Amino acid sequence: MQDLLALDGVDLASVAAREGTPLHLYSATAIRQRIDGLQSALQGVDATICYAVKANGNHAILQLMAKSGVGADIVSAGELRRALRAGIAPSKIVFSGVGKREDEIAQALEAGIARFNVESRAELDLLQRLAHARGVVAHAAVRINPDVDAGTHAKISTGKSENKFGVAVAEARQWFTAQAQWPAVRLDGLHMHIGSQILELEPIRRALQRLARFWRELALAGHAIASIDVGGGLGVRYRQGERAIDAADYVAAIRDALAGFDGRIVLEPGRYLVAEAGLLLARVLHAKQGSERTFLVVDAAMNDLLRPSLYDAWHDIVRVGDDNGRTTTTYDVVGPVCETGDTFAVARGLPRCEAGDLLAILATGAYGASMASTYNSRPLAAEVLVEHGRYAVVRRRQTLDEMLAGEQAATHWETA
Ligand code: LLP
Repeated sequence: MQDLLALDGVDLASVAAREGTPLHLYSATAIRQRIDGLQSALQGVDATICYAVKANGNHAILQLMAKSGVGADIVSAGELRRALRAGIAPSKIVFSGVGKREDEIAQALEAGIARFNVESRAELDLLQRLAHARGVVAHAAVRINPDVDAGTHAKISTGKSENKFGVAVAEARQWFTAQAQWPAVRLDGLHMHIGSQILELEPIRRALQRLARFWRELALAGHAIASIDVGGGLGVRYRQGERAIDAADYVAAIRDALAGFDGRIVLEPGRYLVAEAGLLLARVLHAKQGSERTFLVVDAAMNDLLRPSLYDAWHDIVRVGDDNGRTTTTYDVVGPVCETGDTFAVARGLPRCEAGDLLAILATGAYGASMASTYNSRPLAAEVLVEHGRYAVVRRRQTLDEMLAGEQAATHWETA
């Protein structure tokens, strides 16, 4: 791998020295390139990109999305707040999720978001009740579970009939037939999302075809469909040499499957827009020679980046600096958290490292900071946005006091 010294013109050693580690960095330029690429592939299509906020909900990143005309796919009141605060127009916000709470739906109705992606009859009833109470009509799409295997990790596959997500076409059909039961809901959309980190176009094609077949059937039956939301899921390269789906091919598959559809197409990419724009800097605390393996103990841990622990996910790791003359050594790269699963890489070849060296864990812009916790009472890491040789702290490192705020002694007892 090439020597890694900088991201978007910002010297990694110097930003680490100034801001400390672990440190999440995101390249604004790289994110914009992804947005531009997808937007140009969508030229001529009536499409809205609703960025899946869960991938990385940092305020500065959402502002960048807003400025590029990108909307938001939200799954909670927290994400709604983030999207609105960053200036994303309610007319570009869609609300997904299998367990929306009453107060969350109410807040989204108040905000006047574009559409609810409904996943159960109970949710449809709830939406009817809450919209009716406010005297508004909520736009809704049915999330279809197309029963397609996305060929991705079991924990992030969502489009199989055994998954909790969406409803079968047969059930959706009944909803459309019985639409009059929900007069405060305009059921005029279809939605799907079959999984994440999808690297093959074939399952996407198959799912799109099923969705398209249902749309045609509904159209023939006289149900006007104004919006088809194809979800997210576009995979990225986590490993050098890995192949990902080209945005143009992805859009071509959507155009093909939905040929003749004259409503709006919604896309909900998360990872694709931000993953490869980010990296996590970690400092080597020490190299530890175990009886069977050599460990590189770094100051980032599973609380900063959970993906390797949770999904056995691979992230390329590089030593920051000039590797000239350093022999390749095989390391297990581990964090300080008291779990064996706190491992970023097993038996990974890296240039020989010593205490104080800086490592960059790559492609951590999506589902990195957004899945972070304070496990082992480790404060949340700082995040910086970089652009053309400059950087801005977009989340300051959490202090111990901030981490502890909210906890208190059991002095005030109540009865319930
Ligand atoms: N739309 C819906 C309804 C979703 O559930 C998701 C992701 C997305 C869009 C965005 O998917 P993307 O384009 O990012 O693949 N924590 C896991 C990923 C979980 C994805 C959950 N849903 C990971 O780190 O791999």
